Amino acid sequence: MIRALFLLLFALAVSACQIVGSPARVSAGQAAPVPLPAAIAAPVLATADAVDPHSYAKPLEARVTNVALDLAVDFKAQTIGGTATLDIDRQADARQLVLDRQGYVVQGVTDAANSALPYRFGPEDKQLGTPFIIDLKPDTRRVVIRYRSRPDAGALQWLNPQQTAGKRQPFLFSQGQSTFNRTWIPTQDSPGIRQTWEARITVPSGLRPVMSAPSLGAGRSTERSPELVSYEFRMDKPVAPYLIALAVGDIRFQPLGARTGVWAEPETLPAAARELEDTEKMVIAAERLFGSYRWGRYDMIVLPPSFPFGGMENPTLTFLTPTFIAGDKSLTSLIAHELAHSWSGNLATNATWADFWLNEGTTTYAERRIVEAIYGREVAAQQVALGTDALGKAVEENGGASSADTRLHVDLKGRHPDVGLTDIAYEKGAAFLRTIEAAVGRERFDAWLRGWFDRHAFQPVTSAIFLADLRQHLIRGDRALEAKLQLDRWVYQAGIPGNVAADDLKAFAEVDTAIAAFGRGQAPDATSWRGWNTDERLRFLNRLPRKLPAGRLAALDGALGLSATGNNEVLFAWLELAVANRFDPAVPALERFLAGNGRRKFVRPLIKALADDRRWGRPIARRVYRQARPLYHPLVTRELDELKL
Ligand code: BES
Ligand code: ZN
Repeated sequence: MIRALFLLLFALAVSACQIVGSPARVSAGQAAPVPLPAAIAAPVLATADAVDPHSYAKPLEARVTNVALDLAVDFKAQTIGGTATLDIDRQADARQLVLDRQGYVVQGVTDAANSALPYRFGPEDKQLGTPFIIDLKPDTRRVVIRYRSRPDAGALQWLNPQQTAGKRQPFLFSQGQSTFNRTWIPTQDSPGIRQTWEARITVPSGLRPVMSAPSLGAGRSTERSPELVSYEFRMDKPVAPYLIALAVGDIRFQPLGARTGVWAEPETLPAAARELEDTEKMVIAAERLFGSYRWGRYDMIVLPPSFPFGGMENPTLTFLTPTFIAGDKSLTSLIAHELAHSWSGNLATNATWADFWLNEGTTTYAERRIVEAIYGREVAAQQVALGTDALGKAVEENGGASSADTRLHVDLKGRHPDVGLTDIAYEKGAAFLRTIEAAVGRERFDAWLRGWFDRHAFQPVTSAIFLADLRQHLIRGDRALEAKLQLDRWVYQAGIPGNVAADDLKAFAEVDTAIAAFGRGQAPDATSWRGWNTDERLRFLNRLPRKLPAGRLAALDGALGLSATGNNEVLFAWLELAVANRFDPAVPALERFLAGNGRRKFVRPLIKALADDRRWGRPIARRVYRQARPLYHPLVTRELDELKL
């Protein structure tokens, strides 16, 4: 009790002295941060299933509670350098603070009184980097690390002007999830160790840095040089460190609604804003479903096409691929997804990557609830049905229904956490929640889900905590319900349990009739196709026979205009089919697509399929990859380089 009180006072004192720099001037698109008692980081879970095998940190001895970065971005040298000041909560007898480090160069470590602290690095693991061990004095509560990132830092992608829409200025963005922030931020890089953070970022004037936190003082030019400007940011809620994110470029802001807006290069901004016009409505719908939105603003940034993901839920500022812009808002379930992470993932966060499904499965379920609220039941039911197909495919790709990699709680020890980045986490996780919803009814389920987010807001969670919470607050001793749900089977066993809620068989009735007709040899029906939405088109393409003769592919392409579509999901589905059939006429579209975007989900399967087809595909893969490689993010090239093209 006394210790708790002391910690509280200490944390308040620390956070009071940390509000850096000039008085907050609120910049466009950023709300003033509300100081919160949440600045006291939630304690680290001490159970065995919450021990993170992908971090070297020993948080029960000494853990980071606040990170203060003062960094300059050097585009010429492709480094970010400066200081990181870490506040720590420690056991009285702790001797060391252990951080994660992958590549960044340490120039010195001191305590708050500027006296040097000894440090060393442990043995290096190719995937996890090295432990960074700092010796603490008995009274050390703050350490200051002077350092710089290396040009090959895995979290950072440095784009030259040619790789941007404007072609005039360079661009930089970071991608922390899962374990990449340890290449540019010296801290304890584990999702269970929540940290508040702040940053002063100095960039060449003419460029604008944005981060996953409210912006404080804007546009302060530095003493160092009139060509440089500094911007300040502060996240006063404790977040998992993979959620610290930075983007720098020639970007502008356009408001969308009261607390929503979008950043993008000026060339991309108008189309991005049109595509995102439903965002404010989505936030309102999400609040109605999941409880109040606790992060202040919900802004987005549309990045250059090399961004390796569809989206990334960086708090207050979702990072987006430009490939979701279809002109008709048909791919905006991506926004519903990233927004839903403001509850599932960013409030209640997987303590380790073994429980990644708690982030992504819950979010995929929540995404479709938002889609239902905005676009209606039919659209949501169709997306559920597309998910079911994706799940079937994921089970096959992960070793079949008896493979341990089809469990929700996966064993990732000795493997990179991103091995778990499969549709098992997304779609088996979502199917699990849908099954529970079907069993207890929507009203009860929704009340429980809101409670789940509230009870675990700003805290790490595990599968065990999830199941215990369900039992305590939803099942409440109902033996029949417990037996019906088979909770442990869903989470800890392989395959898809037989009690999975059925999806709506009528969701794609018309499309399925057309697929059958095409299978019987009928010509593709362009009129129907024109009337279909994107999900219907995807169902059609993904369910066609995988082997088709060139004549039939030509008929499809001719009637439906597939190679020329501006919808990147539809184009991808078509190109997969084309590659599987060595359909030469689609190769120019294929090459354009692969050279024009670096989204891992699109690029990886296509290049892999090409590379596996030694005679026909491999020369194409080689040619495209050589051309496109500079565009691709390090986390994509790392995998594709292994194909030895
Ligand atoms: N958080 C993920 C992206 C991610 C996961 C990055 C794991 C690195 C490691 C994000 O929310 C996501 O799921 N993005 C999807 C979008 C989607 C399923 C609508 C993507 O990028 O395709
Ligand atoms: Zn996600």
